[in-house]
Amino acid sequence: MKIKPVQLLALVLFGIGGGCWLVAETPAAPAVASTQSVDGKVIFQTVCAQCHGSAGEGKPELKSPSIAGMPSWYVNTQFANLREGRRGHDAADPQSFMMAAVAKALQPEQIKAVVAHVEQMPMKVPVGKDREMANTNPQEGMRLFQERCMECHRYNASGEMAFGSPPLIGRQGWYLEEQLKKFKAGKRGAVKNDVNGAKMVQMTTLFIEDEQMLRDVVAYIMTLNPESKEQQQIIEGSPFESAGR
Ligand code: HEC
Ligand code: HEC
Repeated sequence: MKIKPVQLLALVLFGIGGGCWLVAETPAAPAVASTQSVDGKVIFQTVCAQCHGSAGEGKPELKSPSIAGMPSWYVNTQFANLREGRRGHDAADPQSFMMAAVAKALQPEQIKAVVAHVEQMPMKVPVGKDREMANTNPQEGMRLFQERCMECHRYNASGEMAFGSPPLIGRQGWYLEEQLKKFKAGKRGAVKNDVNGAKMVQMTTLFIEDEQMLRDVVAYIMTLNPESKEQQQIIEGSPFESAGR
Protein backbone atom coordinates (compact mmCIF):
# COMPACT_ATOMS: atom_id res chain seq x y z
CA MET A 1 0.00 0.00 0.00
CA LYS A 2 1.60 3.22 -1.16
CA ILE A 3 0.59 6.81 -1.01
CA LYS A 4 2.23 9.93 -2.27
CA PRO A 5 1.75 12.91 -0.01
CA VAL A 6 1.01 15.97 -2.09
CA GLN A 7 1.42 19.59 -1.18
CA LEU A 8 -2.23 20.48 -1.31
CA LEU A 9 -3.86 17.79 0.63
CA ALA A 10 -3.47 15.80 3.69
CA LEU A 11 -4.08 12.21 2.90
CA VAL A 12 -5.27 9.99 5.64
CA LEU A 13 -4.90 6.37 4.77
CA PHE A 14 -6.67 3.59 6.55
CA GLY A 15 -4.79 0.32 6.44
CA ILE A 16 -6.31 -2.99 5.43
CA GLY A 17 -6.90 -4.05 9.00
CA GLY A 18 -7.98 -0.55 9.91
CA GLY A 19 -4.90 -0.30 12.08
CA CYS A 20 -2.41 1.67 10.02
CA TRP A 21 -2.67 5.41 9.62
CA LEU A 22 -0.58 7.72 7.57
CA VAL A 23 -1.19 11.39 8.00
CA ALA A 24 0.57 14.13 6.10
CA GLU A 25 -1.00 17.42 6.95
CA THR A 26 -0.92 20.83 5.40
CA PRO A 27 -2.94 23.59 7.00
CA ALA A 28 -5.08 24.94 4.15
CA ALA A 29 -6.37 21.73 2.62
CA PRO A 30 -9.05 19.33 3.74
CA ALA A 31 -7.89 15.97 5.02
CA VAL A 32 -8.73 13.36 2.44
CA ALA A 33 -9.51 9.87 3.58
CA SER A 34 -8.53 6.94 1.43
CA THR A 35 -9.93 3.44 1.55
CA GLN A 36 -9.20 -0.07 0.35
CA SER A 37 -12.87 -0.75 -0.34
CA VAL A 38 -14.01 -1.70 -3.83
CA ASP A 39 -17.64 -0.83 -3.07
CA GLY A 40 -18.58 2.29 -5.08
CA LYS A 41 -20.88 3.69 -2.42
CA VAL A 42 -18.32 3.22 0.36
CA ILE A 43 -15.60 4.83 -1.75
CA PHE A 44 -17.90 7.74 -2.54
CA GLN A 45 -18.85 8.36 1.07
CA THR A 46 -15.30 7.91 2.40
CA VAL A 47 -13.32 9.76 -0.25
CA CYS A 48 -15.47 11.90 -2.56
CA ALA A 49 -18.20 13.12 -0.21
CA GLN A 50 -15.97 15.39 1.83
CA CYS A 51 -15.29 17.55 -1.22
CA HIS A 52 -18.29 16.85 -3.46
CA GLY A 53 -20.91 16.52 -0.67
CA SER A 54 -22.67 13.37 0.46
CA ALA A 55 -25.27 13.66 -2.34
CA GLY A 56 -22.64 14.71 -4.90
CA GLU A 57 -23.96 18.28 -4.88
CA GLY A 58 -20.52 19.98 -4.81
CA LYS A 59 -19.07 22.60 -2.46
CA PRO A 60 -18.59 26.23 -3.48
CA GLU A 61 -15.97 26.84 -0.77
CA LEU A 62 -13.75 24.18 -2.39
CA LYS A 63 -14.87 25.07 -5.92
CA SER A 64 -15.81 21.43 -6.36
CA PRO A 65 -18.57 20.69 -8.87
CA SER A 66 -21.78 18.78 -8.47
CA ILE A 67 -21.04 15.39 -9.98
CA ALA A 68 -24.17 13.39 -9.10
CA GLY A 69 -25.53 11.64 -12.18
CA MET A 70 -22.52 12.44 -14.35
CA PRO A 71 -22.29 9.89 -17.16
CA SER A 72 -19.63 7.24 -16.63
CA TRP A 73 -17.99 7.80 -20.03
CA TYR A 74 -17.22 11.40 -19.08
CA VAL A 75 -16.04 10.64 -15.54
CA ASN A 76 -13.80 7.90 -16.91
CA THR A 77 -12.28 10.31 -19.41
CA GLN A 78 -11.63 12.86 -16.67
CA PHE A 79 -10.07 10.27 -14.34
CA ALA A 80 -7.79 9.15 -17.17
CA ASN A 81 -6.89 12.80 -17.89
CA LEU A 82 -6.20 13.45 -14.21
CA ARG A 83 -4.13 10.30 -13.74
CA GLU A 84 -2.14 10.76 -16.94
CA GLY A 85 -1.33 14.43 -16.50
CA ARG A 86 -3.66 15.98 -19.08
CA ARG A 87 -5.69 17.71 -16.36
CA GLY A 88 -4.51 18.81 -12.94
CA HIS A 89 -0.82 18.77 -13.84
CA ASP A 90 -0.16 22.31 -12.71
CA ALA A 91 -0.23 23.57 -9.11
CA ALA A 92 -1.32 26.94 -10.49
CA ASP A 93 -4.72 25.26 -10.93
CA PRO A 94 -5.19 24.08 -7.32
CA GLN A 95 -8.66 22.55 -7.80
CA SER A 96 -7.76 20.10 -10.54
CA PHE A 97 -4.32 19.56 -8.96
CA MET A 98 -6.10 18.41 -5.81
CA MET A 99 -8.50 16.24 -7.79
CA ALA A 100 -5.60 14.68 -9.71
CA ALA A 101 -4.01 13.57 -6.44
CA VAL A 102 -7.26 11.87 -5.47
CA ALA A 103 -7.57 10.14 -8.84
CA LYS A 104 -3.99 8.86 -8.64
CA ALA A 105 -4.48 7.47 -5.13
CA LEU A 106 -7.28 5.12 -6.24
CA GLN A 107 -6.86 1.67 -7.78
CA PRO A 108 -8.41 0.98 -11.22
CA GLU A 109 -11.08 -1.33 -9.77
CA GLN A 110 -12.00 1.32 -7.20
CA ILE A 111 -12.37 3.91 -9.96
CA LYS A 112 -14.62 1.57 -11.92
CA ALA A 113 -16.85 1.06 -8.87
CA VAL A 114 -17.09 4.71 -7.82
CA VAL A 115 -17.71 5.91 -11.40
CA ALA A 116 -20.68 3.51 -11.66
CA HIS A 117 -21.98 4.79 -8.32
CA VAL A 118 -21.70 8.45 -9.34
CA GLU A 119 -23.64 7.79 -12.55
CA GLN A 120 -26.65 6.39 -10.73
CA MET A 121 -26.85 9.20 -8.14
CA PRO A 122 -29.78 11.56 -8.92
CA MET A 123 -28.54 14.69 -10.67
CA LYS A 124 -28.69 17.95 -8.69
CA VAL A 125 -30.61 20.97 -9.86
CA PRO A 126 -28.53 24.10 -9.26
CA VAL A 127 -30.44 26.57 -7.10
CA GLY A 128 -29.71 29.90 -5.36
CA LYS A 129 -26.10 31.05 -5.62
CA ASP A 130 -25.23 27.94 -7.64
CA ARG A 131 -27.62 29.15 -10.32
CA GLU A 132 -27.63 32.96 -10.21
CA MET A 133 -25.39 34.80 -12.66
CA ALA A 134 -25.44 38.49 -11.67
CA ASN A 135 -25.28 41.17 -14.38
CA THR A 136 -25.64 38.86 -17.34
CA ASN A 137 -27.85 38.71 -20.40
CA PRO A 138 -29.05 35.15 -21.02
CA GLN A 139 -30.56 36.21 -24.38
CA GLU A 140 -27.12 37.18 -25.65
CA GLY A 141 -25.80 33.93 -24.22
CA MET A 142 -28.46 32.00 -26.10
CA ARG A 143 -27.27 33.41 -29.42
CA LEU A 144 -23.73 32.21 -28.78
CA PHE A 145 -24.91 28.88 -27.41
CA GLN A 146 -27.03 28.16 -30.47
CA GLU A 147 -24.34 29.26 -32.89
CA ARG A 148 -21.34 27.64 -31.26
CA CYS A 149 -22.06 25.27 -28.41
CA MET A 150 -25.13 23.20 -29.06
CA GLU A 151 -23.60 21.42 -32.00
CA CYS A 152 -21.57 19.41 -29.51
CA HIS A 153 -23.39 19.86 -26.18
CA ARG A 154 -26.87 19.54 -27.75
CA TYR A 155 -29.72 22.09 -27.69
CA ASN A 156 -30.61 21.26 -24.10
CA ALA A 157 -26.97 21.00 -22.93
CA SER A 158 -27.44 17.36 -22.04
CA GLY A 159 -24.15 16.41 -23.72
CA GLU A 160 -23.20 13.94 -26.42
CA MET A 161 -21.03 10.92 -25.82
CA ALA A 162 -20.08 10.63 -29.50
CA PHE A 163 -18.30 14.01 -29.25
CA GLY A 164 -17.00 13.55 -25.74
CA SER A 165 -18.96 16.66 -24.77
CA PRO A 166 -20.42 16.41 -21.26
CA PRO A 167 -23.81 17.54 -20.00
CA LEU A 168 -23.61 21.15 -18.84
CA ILE A 169 -26.90 21.00 -16.95
CA GLY A 170 -26.64 19.88 -13.35
CA ARG A 171 -23.41 21.88 -12.82
CA GLN A 172 -23.20 25.12 -10.85
CA GLY A 173 -22.93 28.37 -12.82
CA TRP A 174 -19.72 29.40 -11.03
CA TYR A 175 -18.17 26.03 -11.90
CA LEU A 176 -18.95 26.32 -15.63
CA GLU A 177 -17.57 29.85 -15.57
CA GLU A 178 -14.34 28.67 -13.92
CA GLN A 179 -13.88 25.85 -16.44
CA LEU A 180 -14.39 28.13 -19.43
CA LYS A 181 -11.77 30.48 -17.97
CA LYS A 182 -9.39 27.56 -17.45
CA PHE A 183 -9.78 26.45 -21.06
CA LYS A 184 -9.29 30.01 -22.30
CA ALA A 185 -6.17 30.44 -20.16
CA GLY A 186 -4.77 27.08 -21.28
CA LYS A 187 -4.90 25.63 -17.74
CA ARG A 188 -7.17 22.88 -19.00
CA GLY A 189 -7.20 21.21 -22.40
CA ALA A 190 -3.85 22.52 -23.58
CA VAL A 191 -1.69 19.45 -22.96
CA LYS A 192 -0.69 17.48 -26.04
CA ASN A 193 -2.98 14.48 -26.66
CA ASP A 194 -5.93 16.03 -24.83
CA VAL A 195 -8.04 15.83 -27.97
CA ASN A 196 -11.34 16.67 -26.30
CA GLY A 197 -9.92 19.44 -24.15
CA ALA A 198 -8.34 20.99 -27.25
CA LYS A 199 -11.80 21.46 -28.74
CA MET A 200 -12.74 23.68 -25.81
CA VAL A 201 -9.49 25.63 -25.87
CA GLN A 202 -10.30 26.40 -29.48
CA MET A 203 -13.94 27.30 -28.76
CA THR A 204 -13.10 29.63 -25.89
CA THR A 205 -10.24 31.38 -27.62
CA LEU A 206 -11.97 31.79 -30.98
CA PHE A 207 -15.53 32.57 -29.98
CA ILE A 208 -15.63 33.86 -26.40
CA GLU A 209 -14.29 37.38 -26.64
CA ASP A 210 -14.56 38.62 -23.09
CA GLU A 211 -15.77 37.87 -19.59
CA GLN A 212 -19.23 39.31 -20.25
CA MET A 213 -19.75 36.98 -23.18
CA LEU A 214 -18.46 34.05 -21.15
CA ARG A 215 -20.81 34.79 -18.26
CA ASP A 216 -23.77 35.40 -20.60
CA VAL A 217 -23.45 31.97 -22.16
CA VAL A 218 -23.26 30.35 -18.72
CA ALA A 219 -26.36 32.34 -17.68
CA TYR A 220 -28.19 30.88 -20.66
CA ILE A 221 -27.04 27.34 -19.86
CA MET A 222 -28.43 27.78 -16.34
CA THR A 223 -31.89 28.46 -17.81
CA LEU A 224 -31.83 24.97 -19.35
CA ASN A 225 -31.98 23.46 -15.87
CA PRO A 226 -35.39 22.93 -14.26
CA GLU A 227 -36.46 25.89 -12.09
CA SER A 228 -36.25 24.14 -8.74
CA LYS A 229 -35.70 20.91 -6.91
CA GLU A 230 -39.49 20.59 -6.64
CA GLN A 231 -40.02 21.01 -10.36
CA GLN A 232 -37.54 18.31 -11.29
CA GLN A 233 -39.93 15.78 -9.82
CA ILE A 234 -42.83 16.79 -12.03
CA ILE A 235 -41.00 17.00 -15.33
CA GLU A 236 -41.59 13.68 -16.94
CA GLY A 237 -38.56 12.15 -18.54
CA SER A 238 -36.35 14.83 -16.97
CA PRO A 239 -32.73 13.79 -16.70
CA PHE A 240 -32.92 14.96 -13.09
CA GLU A 241 -35.70 12.61 -12.24
CA SER A 242 -34.25 9.28 -13.15
CA ALA A 243 -31.03 7.94 -11.80
CA GLY A 244 -28.17 7.57 -14.27
CA ARG A 245 -28.74 9.12 -17.63
C1 HEC B 1 -9.91 17.09 -1.94
C2 HEC B 1 -11.19 17.38 -2.54
C3 HEC B 1 -11.75 16.40 -3.55
C4 HEC B 1 -11.95 15.05 -3.40
C5 HEC B 1 -11.64 14.19 -2.19
C6 HEC B 1 -12.56 14.59 -4.63
N1 HEC B 1 -12.71 15.65 -5.50
FE1 HEC B 1 -13.41 15.53 -7.39
N2 HEC B 1 -12.97 17.49 -7.70
C7 HEC B 1 -12.54 18.36 -6.72
C8 HEC B 1 -12.41 19.69 -7.28
C9 HEC B 1 -12.01 20.94 -6.51
C10 HEC B 1 -12.76 19.58 -8.64
C11 HEC B 1 -12.77 20.70 -9.70
C12 HEC B 1 -11.51 20.62 -10.55
C13 HEC B 1 -11.38 21.77 -11.52
O1 HEC B 1 -11.75 22.91 -11.20
O2 HEC B 1 -10.86 21.52 -12.62
C14 HEC B 1 -13.11 18.18 -8.87
C15 HEC B 1 -13.50 17.67 -10.10
C16 HEC B 1 -13.99 16.39 -10.28
C17 HEC B 1 -14.50 15.87 -11.54
C18 HEC B 1 -14.54 16.59 -12.86
C19 HEC B 1 -15.92 17.13 -13.09
C20 HEC B 1 -16.09 17.83 -14.41
O3 HEC B 1 -17.15 18.43 -14.58
O4 HEC B 1 -15.20 17.80 -15.26
C21 HEC B 1 -14.94 14.60 -11.29
C22 HEC B 1 -15.56 13.64 -12.28
C23 HEC B 1 -14.69 14.32 -9.89
N3 HEC B 1 -14.12 15.42 -9.29
C24 HEC B 1 -15.02 13.13 -9.26
C25 HEC B 1 -14.60 12.79 -7.98
C26 HEC B 1 -14.80 11.48 -7.38
C27 HEC B 1 -15.57 10.34 -8.03
C28 HEC B 1 -14.20 11.51 -6.16
C29 HEC B 1 -14.04 10.39 -5.17
C30 HEC B 1 -13.30 9.23 -5.66
C31 HEC B 1 -13.65 12.86 -5.98
N4 HEC B 1 -13.92 13.58 -7.10
C32 HEC B 1 -12.95 13.29 -4.86
C33 HEC B 1 -12.25 18.04 -5.41
C34 HEC B 1 -12.23 16.76 -4.88
C1 HEC C 1 -16.51 20.72 -31.08
C2 HEC C 1 -17.34 20.30 -29.97
C3 HEC C 1 -17.60 21.32 -28.87
C4 HEC C 1 -18.12 22.58 -28.99
C5 HEC C 1 -18.56 23.28 -30.26
C6 HEC C 1 -18.23 23.10 -27.63
N1 HEC C 1 -17.79 22.18 -26.74
FE1 HEC C 1 -17.71 22.40 -24.72
N2 HEC C 1 -16.81 20.60 -24.53
C7 HEC C 1 -16.53 19.75 -25.58
C8 HEC C 1 -15.81 18.59 -25.09
C9 HEC C 1 -15.33 17.43 -25.93
C10 HEC C 1 -15.65 18.79 -23.69
C11 HEC C 1 -14.95 17.85 -22.70
C12 HEC C 1 -13.49 18.24 -22.58
C13 HEC C 1 -12.73 17.28 -21.70
O1 HEC C 1 -12.88 16.06 -21.88
O2 HEC C 1 -11.98 17.75 -20.83
C14 HEC C 1 -16.30 20.05 -23.38
C15 HEC C 1 -16.35 20.61 -22.10
C16 HEC C 1 -17.00 21.79 -21.79
C17 HEC C 1 -17.10 22.35 -20.46
C18 HEC C 1 -16.55 21.75 -19.18
C19 HEC C 1 -17.64 20.99 -18.47
C20 HEC C 1 -17.21 20.34 -17.18
O3 HEC C 1 -18.04 19.64 -16.58
O4 HEC C 1 -16.06 20.52 -16.75
C21 HEC C 1 -17.82 23.50 -20.58
C22 HEC C 1 -18.20 24.46 -19.46
C23 HEC C 1 -18.16 23.67 -21.98
N3 HEC C 1 -17.64 22.60 -22.68
C24 HEC C 1 -18.89 24.73 -22.49
C25 HEC C 1 -19.03 25.00 -23.86
C26 HEC C 1 -19.56 26.22 -24.39
C27 HEC C 1 -20.12 27.36 -23.55
C28 HEC C 1 -19.49 26.14 -25.74
C29 HEC C 1 -19.85 27.18 -26.77
C30 HEC C 1 -19.15 28.46 -26.63
C31 HEC C 1 -18.92 24.84 -26.06
N4 HEC C 1 -18.64 24.19 -24.88
C32 HEC C 1 -18.69 24.36 -27.33
C33 HEC C 1 -16.89 19.92 -26.90
C34 HEC C 1 -17.38 21.08 -27.45
